[in-house]
Amino acid sequence: MKSNIAVVGLQWGDEGKGKVVDLLAADMDVIARCQGGANAGHTVIVGDKKYILHLIPSGVVHPDKICYIGNGVVLDPFGLLEELEWLKKESVHFEGRIFVSSSANLVLPYHKLLDEIYEERRGGSPLGTTLRGIGPAYRDKVARCGIRLVDIYDDKILREKLEHIKTLRADIFASHQGDARCDYDSVFERVCSIREAFAPMLTNVSSEMYRLNGEGKKILFEGAQGALLDVDNGTYPYATSSNTTVGGILTGLGIGPRMVGTVIGVVKAYCTRVGAGPFPTELTDKTGEILREKGGEYGATTGRPRRTGWLDLVALQHACRINGVEQFAITKLDVLDTFETIKICMSYKIDGKLVDIFPVDPATLDKVEPIYREFPGWKTDTSSITRFGHLPNEAQNYLRFIADETGTEIKLVSTGAARAETILV
Ligand code: IMP
Repeated sequence: MKSNIAVVGLQWGDEGKGKVVDLLAADMDVIARCQGGANAGHTVIVGDKKYILHLIPSGVVHPDKICYIGNGVVLDPFGLLEELEWLKKESVHFEGRIFVSSSANLVLPYHKLLDEIYEERRGGSPLGTTLRGIGPAYRDKVARCGIRLVDIYDDKILREKLEHIKTLRADIFASHQGDARCDYDSVFERVCSIREAFAPMLTNVSSEMYRLNGEGKKILFEGAQGALLDVDNGTYPYATSSNTTVGGILTGLGIGPRMVGTVIGVVKAYCTRVGAGPFPTELTDKTGEILREKGGEYGATTGRPRRTGWLDLVALQHACRINGVEQFAITKLDVLDTFETIKICMSYKIDGKLVDIFPVDPATLDKVEPIYREFPGWKTDTSSITRFGHLPNEAQNYLRFIADETGTEIKLVSTGAARAETILV
């Protein structure tokens, strides 16, 4: 029996991982985030309280869980402190149960400015990033000029690294003099001011994972964003800058594949995407609007309206493959409750040919004509149903069809935001 679980998104993010992690965390001991940064917005609803977490693992709302942020996360240290402050106000006691990898790269103010500049310089076709500095921070990491958490404790190293970055960026920031985000003295001071706050949270996450796993503790690996935003296997360049798939868990926490356990993919009963990039099943008509309004499809991080469309099986099969998904959690089934018919995209027609392998380039994806299969709607309120067998037959068929076509098992069905609005299969 594998006791650890990995929860990963199978679409373009916003699949409802926050709720799924929150539910599954009840039976786990440790929750670990491995990639992404404050671009994520994981929503957890407990009773009448709504928590939107950007960096801190969603398991934190359970008072007895220990949370880790791995080396693969790009950490906005000021954002993290704000999030902690907010949790304190919400009476979530986190002392002694949030730990951060010393080797996590930092997102610093100049990364956010760079995010804006890079988006502007894409001319008329920006990526639509969250402007949280994610791409520039990963860029610095890969270029080996990033500042890691451990560096902030040594004045000399920190100064030298900032000096190096200042030289590298002199040209691009030339017209931004006076913007505090690229004032390196101010960045130095701000970074020094957080040393004390971070000191008790610093740890070697990799060795902690092995220690806890060895002690028989159950670990939940919490993915951020979704498979189609993966920098290698997503809709590049309309992607985020990290590996949002299972591979990111291994490198982002410093663990081997055997520790991962069961891979659970989270998929919305339809599709959404925020930001630019190909979206073969996008609906720009009334149906798309209904999905957006009924599903409350507005970004948890940026508030942007999300693009909406039917479930795309070609993309989903690709996402299952690149993650080795064994089970899935399907969310927001209730959003489809009133539809007369529901569609699933079964294959793509590209230049007159039928294709069932997800193309890698956006130009080809833009040419896709989705070939749909229609399913009868169930026209029943599913929100209070807590057993799979009590779902209307049409809904059961819809879910079983997805499981069969992706070679996975259904683990959980979510029919509303609250914890109780869930079917555990
Ligand atoms: P970045 O991660 O801010 O660089 O943004 C790159 C792309 O990923 C943009 O299209 C964003 O809208 C999208 N993105 C990043 N994080 C999330 C997320 O948590 N949910 C949904 N989309 C995201």
